[in-house]
Amino acid sequence: MNSVIPVLDPASPQAEAINDLFLQVLLISAIIFAIVAGLILIAISRGRRKQTLPEQDFGSEKTEIAWMVGPVIIVIWLVAISANLVITLNAIPKADPDGKTDLSEIDLIVTGHQWWWEVEYPKSGVISANEIYIPVGKKLRVQISSDDVIHCFWVAQLGRKIDAIPGRENYIWLEASEPGSYQGRCSEYCGAQHAWMNFKVYAVSNEEYEQWLASENKAVAQPKLLSPLASADEQLAFAGKQFFFQATCQQCHTIEGTPAKARIGPDLTHFASRKEIGAGVIENSSENLALWLKDPQALKPGCKMPNFKLNEEHLKQLVAYLETLE
Ligand code: CUA
Repeated sequence: MNSVIPVLDPASPQAEAINDLFLQVLLISAIIFAIVAGLILIAISRGRRKQTLPEQDFGSEKTEIAWMVGPVIIVIWLVAISANLVITLNAIPKADPDGKTDLSEIDLIVTGHQWWWEVEYPKSGVISANEIYIPVGKKLRVQISSDDVIHCFWVAQLGRKIDAIPGRENYIWLEASEPGSYQGRCSEYCGAQHAWMNFKVYAVSNEEYEQWLASENKAVAQPKLLSPLASADEQLAFAGKQFFFQATCQQCHTIEGTPAKARIGPDLTHFASRKEIGAGVIENSSENLALWLKDPQALKPGCKMPNFKLNEEHLKQLVAYLETLE
């Protein structure tokens, strides 16, 4: 459900409230514009017909009071509805609709990195990247921060923007009224690949959400030293795992169940279940993964993943291994 103009296609109560405010302000501005432009047009057309200097008028108390009081009332009203919206969006509900859960607990920690998003579910320990799953119709309390520079977390169809600032935690609510996938973007210029710091929010049924959490929590079977009877694919994946460590990928990445524990780059534990590579740069397929590993700098110049100048054989092995990480 990626709409052409996402801000005008709200899919959460928050985004609807923002959209309402936008439409009200747009309406007032349009009326004022129409009045001002109309008066100018009338003045121009009258002046043109007469071809003489129009009658001169030097001040009218009533008009002057009207054009001061009118705008003051409009501005006060705009401030009031904007402030009301901000207060509503930031409010912390005490409990969710069924009254069971304390919503002041954090459901999701999102950390901006140049140029990708780390996504952590502290209650279940799930860590992912650039893909956020949420249950439809439920409010998730999200903590937003950054590991390096200032980024800004924004899912236009789901609500407000919130800055991701190093050394500081900001909080928002994330919720979607309808199931679907919603495009998120970094909306604060943060360096060369700011434009490719995308993420997706997948709003799914409560059941699917629990299933997703469970599958992310499951240990991934690692390819083991295999008998000569193992299939070619299994042997390739095993060689890929060995090469992963030989090529020092573990210095940046985590794969649960292996010695790879670094958190500089995205956690790869369930890499194969993700839909995109490089924070939205390309779809996650074997061909694209090979392209990415061959030269990440060609696809995303400036990103922290270096070009390891891998040969075709090592590429095949690594792809085979990473594709086992479902
Ligand atoms: Cu991160 Cu722009």
